[in-house]
Amino acid sequence: MTYRTPIPLRTPAPEHLLELRGISKRFGAIRALEGVDLDVYAGEVVAIVGDNGAGKSTLMKVLSGVHPHDSGTIRFAGNPVTISSPTDSRRLGIESVYQELSLCDNLDVVSNLWLGRELRTGGRLDEVEMEQRSWMLLRELSARVSSVRVPVAALSGGQRQTVAIARSLIGNPRVVILDEPTAALGVAQTAEVLNLIERLRERRLGVILISHNIADVQAVADRIVVLRLGRNGGEFRVADVTSEMIIGAITGATSVASRRTAVAEPRT
Ligand SMILES: Nc1ncnc2c1ncn2[C@@H]1O[C@H](COP(=O)(O)OP(=O)(O)O)[C@@H](O)[C@H]1O
Ligand SMILES: [Mg+2]
Repeated sequence: MTYRTPIPLRTPAPEHLLELRGISKRFGAIRALEGVDLDVYAGEVVAIVGDNGAGKSTLMKVLSGVHPHDSGTIRFAGNPVTISSPTDSRRLGIESVYQELSLCDNLDVVSNLWLGRELRTGGRLDEVEMEQRSWMLLRELSARVSSVRVPVAALSGGQRQTVAIARSLIGNPRVVILDEPTAALGVAQTAEVLNLIERLRERRLGVILISHNIADVQAVADRIVVLRLGRNGGEFRVADVTSEMIIGAITGATSVASRRTAVAEPRT
């Protein structure tokens, strides 16, 4: 008897990496987050936008375990999880790249990439292997870094951002959160970092891009989640939205009804 592999009727559903429901977080009397929902699928870039104080960084810190939430639920790849420390977050496969980057300026690119996760053979640092893997990773990311043995202080802002993002990939995460990765960059360097974000999507990562730059968000995101005063303020697919609509949702100028029309459909 022979078995035939069944032909799938449609492509498999994209993997639901993160599912946040009703996330709230207070700092004393301040409600930084109130009942926030967020979904992230593998292979998509979700932008989180909002005015100053909207709760973007707090949401990132909930996911990275820096400020665990007070109420609400988080599912990771379908399973309910608790993220009460940065170790929990990293163990799940969530990596965060903070705006301040936390690179060691005096160390070279290889040392920064492997900092804290150095490869060893027989108790010694395996510099050759680390350097080779660094090149491989940077090449995969089409990163423009001409030497991996220069101190990162000597690199441009865009290259430093590239190194910080590359470093976040060393542990093979599923989700990467980038806080304002282009805020300090000029036009050419911004383009470089946006390209890099596209490489992350191709690697089937879930990318959360926190940004106040609407043009960047429209250039690279699949979906835009608006936070306003700590709450969900609207959600759009990039293809369906104008910058006026996004700004309207950020400032609260558009009605809830119009903001609710375009809701998440993962890209396949
Ligand atoms: N560690 C903290 N202690 C007290 N209040 C905080 C803390 N972090 C953030 N907040 C407050 O929470 C709110 C949301 O802040 P934040 O998440 O930083 O917003 P965003 O990143 O969107 O600008 C603001 O009112 C902010 O002042
Ligand atoms: Mg912030």
